[in-house]
Amino acid sequence: MTTEEQKMTLHHDLKVLETESLDSGFHWLRLNPPSWSWQPGQFLMLRPREWSSDPFLPRPLSIADLDGEALSLFWHVVGKGTRKMTHLRSGDRVRVWGPLGRGFYFEPHMPVLLLAGGMGLAPFIGLIRHHPHPENLELIFGHREDLSSYPLAELSKRILTWSLQDRTPKDLAKLEKAMKVKIQGYSGDGRVLACGPRPFLSMVSRLSRENGARTQVCMETPMACGHGVCLGCSVPGAGGRTYQACVDGPVFSAEELALDQE
Ligand SMILES: Cc1cc2nc3c(=O)[nH]c(=O)nc-3n(C[C@H](O)[C@H](O)[C@H](O)COP(=O)(O)OP(=O)(O)OC[C@H]3O[C@@H](n4cnc5c(N)ncnc54)[C@H](O)[C@@H]3O)c2cc1C
Ligand code: FES
Repeated sequence: MTTEEQKMTLHHDLKVLETESLDSGFHWLRLNPPSWSWQPGQFLMLRPREWSSDPFLPRPLSIADLDGEALSLFWHVVGKGTRKMTHLRSGDRVRVWGPLGRGFYFEPHMPVLLLAGGMGLAPFIGLIRHHPHPENLELIFGHREDLSSYPLAELSKRILTWSLQDRTPKDLAKLEKAMKVKIQGYSGDGRVLACGPRPFLSMVSRLSRENGARTQVCMETPMACGHGVCLGCSVPGAGGRTYQACVDGPVFSAEELALDQE
């Protein structure tokens, strides 16, 4: 995103169209769609009106999808803010700032391997739904909770998906092996796009470096302002550099961060 585009980033009060709860604290929020263009991997800061001053700060969430019907967010309850979001009902209003940050880079003709760990699936939902050549996409999905917590059934109708539940070290070894084999297959003209918890991204970065794959990672670092002001989202980069995940990312090339060499 250019500085000019960042200046044009607006806040909007959007109406809640619909909420939906899946298993184990996973939820959908569908909002009246703003007229933005967006890239998968970009995010917004969200603050429901009913929060008053508690919590004070907005929360960052990936844009899971945006079309003429709705702006969709997919989230998991982890703390106060995400728990309070479950009180939202149709007709409520939320303030959002977005679209923020730098999204994934890919061309429609490129073969793309998507690697998602748990909630790291969120930024890939709209990408999969709207990609003009779904046959160029493939997804490996590592997850702790049951598959019924995630919209995988819908996504696997559109693209080839491999899902692996990782709850034990043995499961994790299986996931690593599956990702290694797939990443090797994408090391030529392909691209690898990954999102998930930090240890997952470190593993992806290592496998990509060892196998010469061009990989981008989406860093879901805790954020307070989302606009490059508070310096609360610093991530160390290769060669001693420091990045702010909200404006320099959240998507980085794996080489920029060298997560596996920290
Ligand atoms: C760019 C970006 C995109 C994101 N997209 C999504 C999404 O699509 N869906 C989704 O469910 N979540 C997403 N997250 C994470 C989400 O922002 C946090 O879960 C949320 O802010 C937690 O707020 P809370 O008030 O519920 O928890 P808090 O009370 O603030 O924290 C509860 C616990 O969660 C930890 N925590 C807080 N934020 C994060 C984080 N970013 N990563 C890891 N641990 C964290 C805290 O350290 C604490 O232990 C995204 C984060 C970023 C930065
Ligand atoms: S969240 Fe404030 S600088 Fe990134």
